[in-house]
Amino acid sequence: MTTQTDPTAYENTEDAGVGDALAASTSDASLARTIARSTQIQTEIDKDPSRFRVLTGDRPTGNLHLGHYFGTLRSRVRLQQRGVETWILIADYQVITDRDGVGPIRERVYSVLADYLAAGLDPDNTTIFTHSSVPALNQLMLPFLSLVTDSELRRNPTVKAEFEATGGRPMSGLLLTYPVHQAADILFCKANIVPVGKDQVPHLEQARVIARRFDERYGRADAAQPVFPAPEALLSEVTNLLGTDGTKMSKSKGNTIELGMDADTTAKILKKAVTDADRTITYDPVGRPEVSNLVMLAAMASDRDPHEVAAEIGDGGGGTLKKVVTEAVNEHFAPIRERRAELAADPGYLEQVLARGNARANEVAEATLDEVRTAMQMTY
Ligand code: TRP
Repeated sequence: MTTQTDPTAYENTEDAGVGDALAASTSDASLARTIARSTQIQTEIDKDPSRFRVLTGDRPTGNLHLGHYFGTLRSRVRLQQRGVETWILIADYQVITDRDGVGPIRERVYSVLADYLAAGLDPDNTTIFTHSSVPALNQLMLPFLSLVTDSELRRNPTVKAEFEATGGRPMSGLLLTYPVHQAADILFCKANIVPVGKDQVPHLEQARVIARRFDERYGRADAAQPVFPAPEALLSEVTNLLGTDGTKMSKSKGNTIELGMDADTTAKILKKAVTDADRTITYDPVGRPEVSNLVMLAAMASDRDPHEVAAEIGDGGGGTLKKVVTEAVNEHFAPIRERRAELAADPGYLEQVLARGNARANEVAEATLDEVRTAMQMTY
């Protein structure tokens, strides 16, 4: 045991303290910087995709819906098609950060995997893996935990928000420290790009802080490169897609359309969608959130401009709008759903894809853990 009690004590002075760095990461100015940088990254990817390794992931807490698809899944597929090495984590250990049980975890993991593959992620180009299958990744959490303080974790805005959402139940140690676990998710494969929504930006900042501190503490002065590259956020497209009732999507409200649903179920849900009394359809997300949300969904599903979609419906009213959006969604998802059904009927294939991804993740995680142990002089 060392006598050092403040792991941030060796921070250099240009770093205005960790808490400040994390708080700043969610300030408007910093978010604006992250957005600007995201645009720049897109350009750099087009120039030379081989410089980048992308990692991102999802918690397998339910089936993926159209919000996931238009918000993140589709852009992952595009990154893969642009030739960027892509890693996708089905974050099963993260499920237990804020709940007591895992639920039907196995089913959910394979359902998410089928969604990924149906949407176009190609296991020959993208490594898809699960937390619990990669022990060396999880072991990185141990040295990483020594590089953070409890107060900086308590200040993490995402941890705070998730804690508040649990309705007063005590915070588990895993909820408090999961940003550190997430840093291990990112750093084990030395990803330099992490596509995330803006709620995850503080976690990215935490991962950068951990990467830098590891190097300050254990990096070799003569090493050409730090052990861990500093990962950057690539902000996901903001779709602002709401549920079919115009409120936030939530499975329990029955206002979501899942990727795996069939055309009839989709039509039924959209039939019940909320519209308003004005027969002239316009795209006005602030003034008419429910109608505009349906217009936007139709626009995204048919790759068109929402104003154009609205103008075409004109004074056709809510009925026509629902018809248009149902057709657009069902047409867009028909091939994806067909492929999804084939995949769901072939569990052996899904198992094989996951086993292959996990084998690759283990190889890379073990190599990184070796580097870490070597840097820490823990090689016996
Ligand atoms: N926390 C992310 C979410 O809820 C999922 C996730 C887990 C993740 N590990 C990750 C995202 C690593 C990016 C990088 O959406």
